[in-house]
Amino acid sequence: MSQPPRNNRPPRRLAAPRQDRQPEDAPRQGREGRAQRAGWDPLAGWYDGWMGKDGSKHHKRLAVPQAASLLDLQEGESLLDIGCGQGVFVPSTLNAGGRYTGVDVSPKLLELGREHHSKDAAFIQGDACKLELTRGLTQHSYDAALFLLSIQDINPLDSAIRGAAWALKKGGRVVLVMTHPAFRIPRQSGWGFDEGRKLTYRRIDRYLTPLPIPMKTYQGQEGVSISFHRPISDYINTLGEYGLMVDAMREIQSFKADDPASDNPAEKEIPLFLGLRAIKV
Ligand SMILES: C[S@@+](CC[C@H](N)C(=O)[O-])C[C@H]1O[C@@H](n2cnc3c(N)ncnc32)[C@H](O)[C@@H]1O
Repeated sequence: MSQPPRNNRPPRRLAAPRQDRQPEDAPRQGREGRAQRAGWDPLAGWYDGWMGKDGSKHHKRLAVPQAASLLDLQEGESLLDIGCGQGVFVPSTLNAGGRYTGVDVSPKLLELGREHHSKDAAFIQGDACKLELTRGLTQHSYDAALFLLSIQDINPLDSAIRGAAWALKKGGRVVLVMTHPAFRIPRQSGWGFDEGRKLTYRRIDRYLTPLPIPMKTYQGQEGVSISFHRPISDYINTLGEYGLMVDAMREIQSFKADDPASDNPAEKEIPLFLGLRAIKV
């Protein structure tokens, strides 16, 4: 039997929460299983058009600078960018004096990467879940590895993290930047407004259970992508299993947090992205 409200007043009616079908304007996520691996090709033209050579505003203002700061690449160091797309992280790597190799499953995105950054970077086709079998990659040869808004497109997590550990030198680091798994779960979280308390709140419908989530499609986009939701503990524990010890974690606000015109003060408190860095011991 349901409990009556303690104060005998009817429960407050809350404004219908807005669903996050897509994590803000954040980059789209990938597809499932085998179909997923071939699946970014149909999205390539749309993704490149939306991103341009230098990335979306989320890349330029948040994801790329945060990834660069976590990686802290030094002159001459080598980076393996896993799920590199069309290579939005190339300029940041080269500006730091680093050497860039991008690996991705989508031939079309790689082709766009070579067009955008021709001589400056190496682009290799391969499956992030089978890096050990990818021609052109060698074990224990990279100073740093990166999953820039790609880890939630890649499944299974275990194989992708195992591959990163395989590619890294001892003492190397891996950085993961993703939409925040605790607060920005596509279709399973959203903003709402509590009329009684006059505040905007974040609603989370589910969190602990890993979940493949088909993403909303946009006009001009062919193909559907799937985002793989996992709780944060899955990331930390999988990294740990492969000898990758987390030494830094960043919870990154949306740039709307600093926008005086924003009508949502909760943007300051609820992060958009999560950044993790782990060191190979
Ligand atoms: C949202 S895009 C991000 C691309 C790039 N890192 C960026 O920030 O622009 C996700 C990328 O993951 C790649 N991807 C998905 N599954 C993959 C897999 N199993 N192996 C390699 N790349 C994969 C897709 O092809 C796509 O380029």
